[in-house]
Amino acid sequence: SPFAPFQRDLPRIPELVPNISTRTRDTYAMTVREGLAEVLPGFQTPIYGYDGVYPGPLIRAKKGREVVVRQTNALPFDTNVHLHGGYVPAAHDGHPMDVIAAGGSFDYHYPNEQDAATLWYHDHAHGRTSKTLYYGLVSMYLLEDELETELGLPQGEFDVPLVLADHAFNKDGSFRYAENVDIGFRGDTLLVNGAISPRMAVQRRRYRLRFLNASNARSYALRLGNARAMVQIAGDGGLLSRPVPRTNIPLHPAERVEVVIDFSQYGPGEELTLYNVDTEAGGGTTPIMRFDIQGGKASEDFRVPTRLRDPEPLPAPTVRRRWDLALGSAAWQINGLSWDPNRIDVRPRLGSTEVWTFVNNSGRVHPMHLHGFLFRVLERTSGPVELADRLGWKDTVGVLPNETVTVLAWFAPYKGKYVFHCHALEHADKAMMLQMEIV
Ligand code: C2O
Ligand code: CU
Repeated sequence: SPFAPFQRDLPRIPELVPNISTRTRDTYAMTVREGLAEVLPGFQTPIYGYDGVYPGPLIRAKKGREVVVRQTNALPFDTNVHLHGGYVPAAHDGHPMDVIAAGGSFDYHYPNEQDAATLWYHDHAHGRTSKTLYYGLVSMYLLEDELETELGLPQGEFDVPLVLADHAFNKDGSFRYAENVDIGFRGDTLLVNGAISPRMAVQRRRYRLRFLNASNARSYALRLGNARAMVQIAGDGGLLSRPVPRTNIPLHPAERVEVVIDFSQYGPGEELTLYNVDTEAGGGTTPIMRFDIQGGKASEDFRVPTRLRDPEPLPAPTVRRRWDLALGSAAWQINGLSWDPNRIDVRPRLGSTEVWTFVNNSGRVHPMHLHGFLFRVLERTSGPVELADRLGWKDTVGVLPNETVTVLAWFAPYKGKYVFHCHALEHADKAMMLQMEIV
């Protein structure tokens, strides 16, 4: 069957080359268009893609160097681009009402003034993201800085971005999408970088693996066969203050984790499978991908340092707010409200911190995401906050069924209108999104 796992090598995401590079800035151009992808061997799957590919081309940015991306929209409807996790001025954030008309183009300016992090970019034109992301408008944006080089983290071919998404197929090989407003879309086939549960040949050394959950609504829990150790070094907002060994890593829609796996402890010819053990969607254990350990002598040139990045001290919070997540009469809502672009729902002060509590009164996971700003997870009622989540910044947090999660959000560095919403895309499209204006 073309759906059997481990038949294909992991595709590497193509890297976009700048058109122009000056001393302070790199300028890129991309076209948002239809394309074809070979997802199933022998079939051509129609997609929407940045430059017509799925996942779209990867951008590697450097802290302190501006990136400008000219996006030309060659699709027959409005789109836009949101740099998820980025500190971006409001006019360049990809606000859901701020769109590029069919046939138009826009230059997005990204200052890259924040610390290194695995960011990603995707369409955000309101009401359509569950379809446009599903059909392929998504890729990674790796912001790098000097500390990572000083720490000696694996680089180049040993630093591997991995885009996870679940899909379903029609007989002709096209993606099948079925809207489910309640739980969100759930596919029966797991893709990594656009290939069904691929295999990846690895040398006997350490690798840095960057996982992005680009699924519409599926949560994952990453676990290696025999619960072998992974060392988490980063989350949504970049490096943790220190590495955290883990055997089971939850990954809700839009979240990122970076782990270092030491393949030098395995023998040549050994195979190590990474599984999804999340059971929320009713599934059992399913393979995500497989690492095939190659021959040769193990190299021991690198250990993960015991300290990574010290967190910035934060001003004390001045305001506490509560957000109730519940199903209204026809749609998911926040505090009984649905998205209204003409309403400002909250006005945090620039530079301040606020304690936000998300109260989930439902049986569904709601991955809550703030545009433009980062937060720290303070408390959750389902159990202690994972150590890794306490040691780093996040921009999305999975609020579990009937759970309350409290975060400390920092409203810097930009003023203006941004949104926050549930990242289960069918929930966001059906208006589980509010607007904040930083004043
Ligand atoms: Cu990935 Cu509104 O975000
Ligand atoms: Cu939701």
